[in-house]
Amino acid sequence: MSSGNAATSGTFKIGGDVEVNRLGFGAMRITGPGIWGEPADRAEAIRTLKRLPELGVNFIDTADSYGPDVSEELIREALPPGGDILVATKGGLARTGPNQWIPLGRPEYLIQQAHKSRHRLGVARIGLWQLHRIDPKVPREEQFGAIRALIDSGVIRHAGLSEVSVEEIEAASKVFKVTTVQNRYNLVDRASEAVLTYCERHGIGFIPWFPLAAGNLARPGSVLDSIARRHDAAPSQVALAWVLKRSPVTLPIPGTSKVAHLEQNVAAVDIALTDEEFAALDRQGKAQSTG
Ligand SMILES: NC(=O)c1ccc[n+]([C@@H]2O[C@H](COP(=O)([O-])OP(=O)(O)OC[C@H]3O[C@@H](n4cnc5c(N)ncnc54)[C@H](OP(=O)(O)O)[C@@H]3O)[C@@H](O)[C@H]2O)c1
Repeated sequence: MSSGNAATSGTFKIGGDVEVNRLGFGAMRITGPGIWGEPADRAEAIRTLKRLPELGVNFIDTADSYGPDVSEELIREALPPGGDILVATKGGLARTGPNQWIPLGRPEYLIQQAHKSRHRLGVARIGLWQLHRIDPKVPREEQFGAIRALIDSGVIRHAGLSEVSVEEIEAASKVFKVTTVQNRYNLVDRASEAVLTYCERHGIGFIPWFPLAAGNLARPGSVLDSIARRHDAAPSQVALAWVLKRSPVTLPIPGTSKVAHLEQNVAAVDIALTDEEFAALDRQGKAQSTG
């Protein structure tokens, strides 16, 4: 299947005013092993980023902790600020080594990290900044208060949360406007169904991470396998098409460090699942959900 254009996935207005094509890109994978340091093939990572606007992708997800710093720096190098791409970043996880992620939600740290991301990305204001994790060691109102302060001081325009429950979204919403929620979600991990439903009801963008996963559903002879064959597509593309059809507020961000994989992922926007196919995948996915 040849590469499509992310515009086919439709659009969503983050916070009601920042419009992006729904199929985005996750920039966690353009770093080294353990999401630490430089990527193994830096030139290919840059090529991958430069290919994004050509494929209509204008929503990139990154974080200060990816590398750390490396992902934000590569994005700025490949796609200088000033274009119409929304680079959404996150803060709130400290890095002490490869695969080490430690929630750190002291308000002064969150504010410092947002300032540093703004500087690295080279923007006057970060279009969307998300709290990577609520730190259980710090009162959550203090973390939400820091986000409020970042909005009020113009460092960030919109704010979101990651890996949260409905109760946490409601608590945060008392302090600032929650415009996006980023939770792990895919065909076979449905633990965040209630959160997705809440987001849909409240016009909050739901950013499902790890969207390509299809688990055992992809085995030969399975429903997913036969639907993929019918569409002349890979199972991961069908998994992505399913996430896109699931709700108009889903903004999936498949991540890759390779141009060929990016093109394959974007081409998933051209897969038009029938309602019957969607329902069959839905049933199978729920039955095997790990969440
Ligand atoms: N909020 C959070 O806590 C959180 C946590 C994790 C991730 N995220 C965000 O979500 C994004 C996506 O998550 P993810 O990277 O875990 O999951 P994913 O995008 O579903 O999967 C990425 C993995 O699949 C491979 N891949 C991608 N496209 C492929 C293709 N067409 N064919 C074969 N392999 C392919 C990638 O390796 P190659 O590089 O070899 O293609 C990578 O190993 C991340 O980039 C990050 O921005 C957020």
